Amino acid sequence: MLTYNYYGHACFQLDDGTTKILVDPFLTGNPQASISEKDVKADYILITHAHGDHIGDAPNIAVRTNATVVGIPEIMDFGGQRVKTIGMNLGGTIKTEFGFVRMVPALHSSGIGGGVACGYVIGVGGKIIYFAGDTALFSDMKLIGERDKIDYAILPIGGHYTMDPIDAAKAAAFLDAANVIPLHYDTWDIIKQDAQDLVKLVEFAKVHIVKPGQSLELK
Ligand code: NI
Ligand code: MN
Repeated sequence: MLTYNYYGHACFQLDDGTTKILVDPFLTGNPQASISEKDVKADYILITHAHGDHIGDAPNIAVRTNATVVGIPEIMDFGGQRVKTIGMNLGGTIKTEFGFVRMVPALHSSGIGGGVACGYVIGVGGKIIYFAGDTALFSDMKLIGERDKIDYAILPIGGHYTMDPIDAAKAAAFLDAANVIPLHYDTWDIIKQDAQDLVKLVEFAKVHIVKPGQSLELK
């Protein structure tokens, strides 16, 4: 069984019962945070880019949990603290004990001098999960959907910094995703959205609206 645990904003954890993959762990200062950085569990931490609402508490969590941090090399600076890291780059795939992680492009700034923002395709628990990270809509999402059959696409819909529901619905179509989970909205007024707009706009995928603190079994 594969579980999606949503902790608010762009932070979630995928748990296949053995391995816990924590993504973009911004918890301290996150108005939606449903768990503390002191309690959250992780074997791997995936980071999409160095904006504070994504890299967040990653250094502290990595030190406490001994999790392996995955991201582009430019953001792997943990101030001399001993953290296990896997630096990779766009188009690269790493094989892991749970499956694989592929780093894919995102159209967004990196939040740091040098480097780029990214998304991830994650093979875990017999499913393929695509997390777009922070991004604008781009037509090469079609290529991501052509290489892997996307079971769940986790997409930002807040607008202002990322796609809004209109572009996220187009992204779901480009990806040919079977299911869509929106995030990165309602955290602050500037990214307030009605997730029902996404439900109305997505034609072929099933949209799952998961609230901070809620979990969803990924079937
Ligand atoms: Ni960002
Ligand atoms: Mn963001």
